[in-house]
Amino acid sequence: MSMLRIQGGKPLVGDLEVAGSKNSALAVLSSVVLCDGPVMLHNVPHVSDIETKCQLLRMFGAQVDWVEGSLVVDATPLSFAEPDAELVRKIRTSFYLLGPLLARLGFCRIPAPGGCRIGARPVDFHLKGLRTLGAEIDLEGGVYTARCDQLRGAEIYLDFPSAGATQHLMATAVLAEGITTLQNVAVEPEVVALAEFLNRLGARIEGAGTGTIYIHGVSRLEPNEYRIPADRLQAGTFLLAGAITGGDVCVKGLVPENQTPVVNKLREAGAFVQEGHDFVRVSSVGRLDAIQIKTMPYPGFPTDMQQPMAAVLALANGVSVIDETIYESRIGHIAELNRMGAKIQLQGRVASITGVDRLRGASVEASDLRAGAALVLAGLAAEGTTTVRNVHFIDRGYEDLENTLNGLGGNVVRLDANGRPVLSGAAQVRAER
Ligand code: EPU
Repeated sequence: MSMLRIQGGKPLVGDLEVAGSKNSALAVLSSVVLCDGPVMLHNVPHVSDIETKCQLLRMFGAQVDWVEGSLVVDATPLSFAEPDAELVRKIRTSFYLLGPLLARLGFCRIPAPGGCRIGARPVDFHLKGLRTLGAEIDLEGGVYTARCDQLRGAEIYLDFPSAGATQHLMATAVLAEGITTLQNVAVEPEVVALAEFLNRLGARIEGAGTGTIYIHGVSRLEPNEYRIPADRLQAGTFLLAGAITGGDVCVKGLVPENQTPVVNKLREAGAFVQEGHDFVRVSSVGRLDAIQIKTMPYPGFPTDMQQPMAAVLALANGVSVIDETIYESRIGHIAELNRMGAKIQLQGRVASITGVDRLRGASVEASDLRAGAALVLAGLAAEGTTTVRNVHFIDRGYEDLENTLNGLGGNVVRLDANGRPVLSGAAQVRAER
């Protein structure tokens, strides 16, 4: 079990290039099995969730190789398999393989998924949609078994614009016979990216990025290549790192419109934000002002950014309020931030944050990916030394986090359980490869 030791109190200053999007890459890797030929993916981030997904794909017979930094997946030799339940439970998107595998094989078994523990995270929208497309699905002993002769296009209405259900059903419908209409869908950039990817391979998807998506079924997909877009959540985290440390950070290689919620809220809090055609730069001097935030589906304020933002607002002037409407228990960061001197009170899903003028380094524990990011940000701004344990959560979604922060002037060291310095998460992943 490694940990990050952070020597806080230094403003972060400089430029960085953001890595490819974890959530985009995971969605693409779920649907890549629709194609019976090699697909080359560029800019796939070196994070542990991707490694888990690659292992799962290999279990189903796909050939998955890193070639000069790109990921090549050939799902031609796909076959039925009983995937390892422990592996499946590591990531939520293992479940998103169910529909695409079913479309290719006509039969599939997948244990119930896991992922970060931030709420109940049911899969009812996925199941309802897949059944509407003609799948027969049973759950027994914690394993979903799905069968179908031929999936058929249908009209599907989502009760909530779930990013995962939109991606899963859109991909599954690509090889279904006829036209599928998905209504009340998510408009997240990762949904648009997935549609772009599938269309490059010959799918016929229209409307991604709007509330209704139309999919004209095709009989097969053709091999092609695709570049995973920048990770808006990593980018947002680095922008917040600039703000919380009173620094000046420029994140490059991103799509500025995708950062709109974070950028607007930082401006409202008094930070200076400059946007160019592929960069966003944030700087701040002195304390930010308290603000109110309500998490919403895109383009609302992302639930993934509320935890890192809570760390920033812990040091703002006045009382901020964060209302988390998407997940009922994305709150693991609060007690740990309070351990560092923050004053955050939680009532239901609403956190009231009374800003303090300083945080103090402490030994804290990440409970999930973005809670971990929040604690790292707090550690960067705190007086003294912070130790963040359970770094494996952070490695799920941040590539080389400590090296990136150190490149901006931070002082972050990864230590093993005995306190000895070790390689970064991404460097370990590369070394094991
Ligand atoms: N929901 C249901 N039933 C379903 C599906 C979702 O009730 O069948 C609910 C969820 O419980 C939640 C809401 O709908 O309350 C939204 O969930 P959504 O399906 O949109 O989330 P997801 O696809 O499971 C993805 C990201 C999350 C991110 C959310 C929200 C991936 C791998 N995960 O999850 O990212 O928080 O969208 O934007 O793409 C992270 O990166 O740290 C992370 C957790």
